[in-house]
Amino acid sequence: MDMTFTPVPESYRRFAETECQDAPVYAAWTRAVAGNAELCERIARLPGPKRQPNLIFAAARIRTPERPDGSFELDSLSPEALVQRLLETWDAIEHTLLTRANQTNEPARSSIHMPLMAELDRPIALIEVGCSAGLTTIPDRYSYRFRTARGTTTADPADGPSPVVLDCDADDDAPEHLPEIVWRGGIDLNPLDLDPSTPRGRDDLAWMKALVWPGHEHRAQRLEKAARLATEQRARGPWTTVTGDLLAELPRLVEQAEREALGAAIVVIHTAVIVYLPDPAEFEALMAGLRDRVEWLSCEGPSVLPGVASRLGERAQAALEPGAFILARNGHPVKQAQSWGYWTRPLPGES
Ligand SMILES: C[S@@+](CC[C@H](N)C(=O)[O-])C[C@H]1O[C@@H](n2cnc3c(N)ncnc32)[C@H](O)[C@@H]1O
Repeated sequence: MDMTFTPVPESYRRFAETECQDAPVYAAWTRAVAGNAELCERIARLPGPKRQPNLIFAAARIRTPERPDGSFELDSLSPEALVQRLLETWDAIEHTLLTRANQTNEPARSSIHMPLMAELDRPIALIEVGCSAGLTTIPDRYSYRFRTARGTTTADPADGPSPVVLDCDADDDAPEHLPEIVWRGGIDLNPLDLDPSTPRGRDDLAWMKALVWPGHEHRAQRLEKAARLATEQRARGPWTTVTGDLLAELPRLVEQAEREALGAAIVVIHTAVIVYLPDPAEFEALMAGLRDRVEWLSCEGPSVLPGVASRLGERAQAALEPGAFILARNGHPVKQAQSWGYWTRPLPGES
């Protein structure tokens, strides 16, 4: 949610209503923050992208010990105590907020893109824009259990079942075989490498875990395993990671893929990234210019990409599941998806 122009109490209440269906702790905390005028004023003084409740809560959580199950001590605070804690420790929290970003990297989002990638039936050169730690740039390293009306379809990596198994309630036929990814590229303003053998990697992994919402501890536990797979895959290569703005860097990376991955289908993917751009229409224009050279799979909130939103139409937008993202192929909406990759469903009116 873009919090730049909406008053903090209103945007926090809306966040509790629309984004916290499976996060009761964050729903209660967010409502309590919305009701405290002093805290709302302090939050309003932060730059727009730093006002997200999940980012502020992560900055507070990481200051408390992590428990063995992946939760943090802070999670047991009542909403009133949480507000008090935020006020008392605001300077330290603000420092963390200004030095860290919301780089949540959710491997399970691979379940959303995977069926369309598998349909290509060709080796893939995969480019992820807004790749964070690259955990969604290795969709071929995970095992999938797609539950559809016809039963469960399992798909494993070429070298056997993965320690990371992604469950997804899928709306349609699910792939039985994963595509071969022969080349990888990623672009991020701040790419992370969660290599557990380095102090920096461990530090970044701790931040990534703090970004996982309370009650989603299975996601925090999965992060460590996915981080190990990403570290292993980086060593195998080829995998080019570019630090920079995706608008400026994508054309060059596509050219590199064309040179180095001859014959492969170049697939550009992203999830929960374009909302951070000042003008998402610029990205749509860039992708239109690359149309003959790449397959573009986007997964963003329903109103983020203007072209996708207008093809979807206002009536369909209003009938989406709360908090759903839209998976689109080359700018055309294909299905709605739960934002962490738990399910995919047909678009309203298409079941
Ligand atoms: C919320 S994370 C999502 C990460 C990943 N796509 C996923 O779904 O798990 C958004 C990522 O986009 C990156 N990002 C935001 N604006 C960007 C830009 N203009 N260019 C490159 N990366 C950007 C952030 O640094 C962050 O790592």
